[in-house]
Amino acid sequence: IERVTIPALQKWRREGRRITMTTAYDAITARIADPIVDIILVGDSVGNVCLGFDSTLPVTMAMMNHHLEAVARTEPRALLIADMPFLSFHLSAEETIRNAGGFLRRGADAVKLEGGASRVDMVRALVRCEIPVMGHLGLTPQSVNLMGGFKVQGRNADDALRLLDDAHRLQEAGCFALVLEGIPAELAARAAESLAIPTIGIGAGPGCSGQVLVLHDVLGLAEGRRPKFVRAYADGFQLMQEALSRWAADVRLGTFPGPQEAYRLPEGLGGVIAN
Ligand code: KIV
Ligand code: NA
Repeated sequence: IERVTIPALQKWRREGRRITMTTAYDAITARIADPIVDIILVGDSVGNVCLGFDSTLPVTMAMMNHHLEAVARTEPRALLIADMPFLSFHLSAEETIRNAGGFLRRGADAVKLEGGASRVDMVRALVRCEIPVMGHLGLTPQSVNLMGGFKVQGRNADDALRLLDDAHRLQEAGCFALVLEGIPAELAARAAESLAIPTIGIGAGPGCSGQVLVLHDVLGLAEGRRPKFVRAYADGFQLMQEALSRWAADVRLGTFPGPQEAYRLPEGLGGVIAN
C-alpha cells in the first residue's frame, strides 16, 4: 500500500481534493482510522480523551511517546503526526529539536505545535533539522489560561489580522500545513485561499483544504457536552455500553460462556478427574 506523504498533501491541496485527519492514541484506534483517513494525529488531546485531564497542559513528552509508540507499531499508511505537548517546544531550540527528533525516531513523519509569531524561531530550528512541522493557530488549547477558556478566536479585527499574519509567518518559516481551530469560517477561508500550504480546519468552517476531528468525537465516544463544531457519526458510548451490558447480563444468567466458548477434555478423559 502506498503511504501518504507531505508532497501528496500539497498536490491534493492544489487539486482541491479535501484532506481528512483524525486522532489515534493506541493501536486499536490507529487500526480503525488508518484505512479511512489521510493523516493520523497522535494529539495531546490524549490528555482529555484518554487520561482524564480537563486540559492538555498536564500532558508530557513521556505520555506522548508512550502513545505514539503504540500507534507507530501498527505501521499506518496514513501520514503520522505527533503533537508537541505544552513546554516541549518552548525552552530552547536544542530541547525542541531533541523532543521532535525523538518523535521521528519513534516513527512519526512530522510534528505539530501550537502558536504563531512567538513560535517561528522553533519552527525554523526544526525545519533546519529536516523535521516537518504542522502549525496550529486559533483556539489553541494549550493557551486556555490566556484565552480565559475554550473560546472562539479571531472574532475582532485585530485578532483576525494577527491570525492571518501568524499563518503567513508560519508558512514562511517552513510549516508544511496548518491546523486552524475555533475561528470564524470567513477568516479560515481567507487564510486557506491566501496560503499556498494546506489548511486543516476544526471548528473553522468548510473553507479549509481539509478537516480534522478527534476520533472519539466522530464516534460519539466522548462523554458530556458536545462542542458546536462536532458531528458524531455514531453513539459509540451507548453502543459499547449496550454490548457490555448484554455480556454482563449473560454472565449473571449463566448463559455465558456457552458450549461454543468452552474447552473440553479429550474424549474418554472425563473419568481421570472424577474423584
Ligand atoms: O490534540 C488534538 O487532537 C489536536 C487536533 C484537534 C487538531 O490538536
Ligand atoms: Na493538540
